[in-house]
Amino acid sequence: MAFGSGRFRVSGSLARALVLALAPFWAVGPVHSSAQAAPTPALVQLVSTTGLSISSPSRSASGSPPATDLQEGAQRFHPIVSAGGMVAAQEAQAAGVGASILRQGGNAVDAAVATCFALAVTLPQAGNLGGGGFLVLWLPRSGAKQSRAPAVPIGRGQAVALNFRETAPMSVRPELFLQADGSVDRVKATRSLLSTGVPGTVAGLTLAQARYGRLPLKVVMAPAIQLAERGFPVGVELAASLTAAAPLLKADPNSRRLFFKSGGLPYRPGEILRQGDLARSLRRIAEQGAPGFYGGPVARALEGLMVQRGGLIRSADLAAYRARWQAPLQGRFRGYQVLTMPPPSGGGITLLQLLNVLEPLKLEATGANSAATIHRLVEAMNLAYRDRNRLLGDPDQVSMPLEQLQSSAYANLQRSRLDLNRHRPAAQLEADPTALGGAPNTTHVSVADRQGGLVAVTTTLNGAYGNGISVPGAGFLLNNELDDFSLKPGSANGYGLVQGAVNAIAPGRRPLSSMTPTLVFRPSGEPLLATGSPGGSRIITTVLQVLLNRLVFGLNLASSVAAPRIHSQLWPDQISLEEGISPDTRRLLEAMGHKLVPVPAMGSANSVEVLPAKGAASGPAASSTRSRSGGSLGVADPRRRDAAAVPERP
Ligand code: DON
Repeated sequence: MAFGSGRFRVSGSLARALVLALAPFWAVGPVHSSAQAAPTPALVQLVSTTGLSISSPSRSASGSPPATDLQEGAQRFHPIVSAGGMVAAQEAQAAGVGASILRQGGNAVDAAVATCFALAVTLPQAGNLGGGGFLVLWLPRSGAKQSRAPAVPIGRGQAVALNFRETAPMSVRPELFLQADGSVDRVKATRSLLSTGVPGTVAGLTLAQARYGRLPLKVVMAPAIQLAERGFPVGVELAASLTAAAPLLKADPNSRRLFFKSGGLPYRPGEILRQGDLARSLRRIAEQGAPGFYGGPVARALEGLMVQRGGLIRSADLAAYRARWQAPLQGRFRGYQVLTMPPPSGGGITLLQLLNVLEPLKLEATGANSAATIHRLVEAMNLAYRDRNRLLGDPDQVSMPLEQLQSSAYANLQRSRLDLNRHRPAAQLEADPTALGGAPNTTHVSVADRQGGLVAVTTTLNGAYGNGISVPGAGFLLNNELDDFSLKPGSANGYGLVQGAVNAIAPGRRPLSSMTPTLVFRPSGEPLLATGSPGGSRIITTVLQVLLNRLVFGLNLASSVAAPRIHSQLWPDQISLEEGISPDTRRLLEAMGHKLVPVPAMGSANSVEVLPAKGAASGPAASSTRSRSGGSLGVADPRRRDAAAVPERP
């Protein structure tokens, strides 16, 4: 059988598999006609008192005339404005480091790498040397050195993705994580050294910087070394987080020494946290690059810990680790180009699938966070997560139907399955697993430079403080990323994700992730924004909602990030709701068959936006303009108290 047309034909066994898998609800509910895509909202030029030119989609949703005056009709939240570049991150001192690197002539990659190393110091719950992540960058062609990376040309520059996800050690075996009754041992999966994947962060950050940065690595890393060596004032959020994580961290003698005062007392906000061991590790990396981490004393300390306490990582695993350049996934939404992370992120492809399904649904007519819109999002999310969990894994080891999942034919098919009036229970899509909840932390940094260069980078230890275990003498925590595998296919991981055999644990394999660092380009090919988020399985839906708010609902970047979020991932069969969704809306959703669960704030979507250069050509001609940007906007997600967007030049 075959359906679709043109280059998005889906045929053969994949089509059969998809059709069979989704067959139960073909017959149920009204079929939504695939309406014409709504026109891209017009861009309205707003002139602020700083004299900067700010573009914002018009408010066609409400039918009211576009705002033309920032005094009247302005939105309730406002981004930070910069005449140059911008760094938005989950911790203010680290964001400040990135901005200072921009001021020293660094580009977006230098600043992002500097910020990530600084976050390894000031945000130990998620910033890291012992974890992994993904990075998507776009630089104007003149700003990029020659490289063999599989770059995607876009506008006057090129985009590339870097995969520095952790790998499973070579001696891993699935049964190591199972109890006698065959169930997953959650302690082993999240709180033991068995849960640690071979760290990728140092390989990734140093590779990105060497290939695309402008400054010497030593300059880029100097602020992080200083923050670790001299110490920094503990922020409000870090103080609360360390206190909450005390049982985990104090279970490890090293972590107790690193993150608590003598006598095990917690740091209070404003007190200085020094990390001498970490400073030494950072200095080794600054001087030697990745070999300073994957070989020598740091690697020996890590292997020594593993041998002593039953972990699997050996020096051969560390020496073999490589970060990997990949071509970003590319999609179009209402004329905008969306560049995002390919597998082993399950985030990018799921995001593009959702955008494809939602594009013609005229969401501006149903409105942001109305019951009708939330219902459409949730039903589409459930279908997309079902695919994520069953079909995606590590591209180095498994094959995936990526082209088909991204095709318009498949989007049309999925859209036709949405019942616009009634929630389709998850059990109609697949059998009920036992879903768990998570206690998460990950962190996302977005950077714009004054040339319009953009970086979106998300890094993680998986859980907050990973498995809580630190490498003696090296000063950093280890990830518990191997829980992102389906340790037992069909049972839920820490984020309640019920994944299939395609994501089973295997030596050298990278676990499927939800991290979704994403760049958006204007129809002309000029850069528009960078975003991403922590939040485990909720990352994808967070990024989706930031994009819909900005590109469809006419919100500025700050309002787009601040707006209340919802999340659904098939299992558990419920909508997670942040505060801010009205009781009337909730009642309407319940009447459509949804179970609603209020949850704490989800995600931390630190985002930046590039302003068009004054007088820059618009339309297709702009793609050949070698203009600098007209400045940038930055937003620190208000959900995290220590976050900040710091301008290169206010
Ligand atoms: O890669 C993933 O999908 C997860 N390990 C990310 C964890 C996470 O975002 C936790 N954050 N809040």
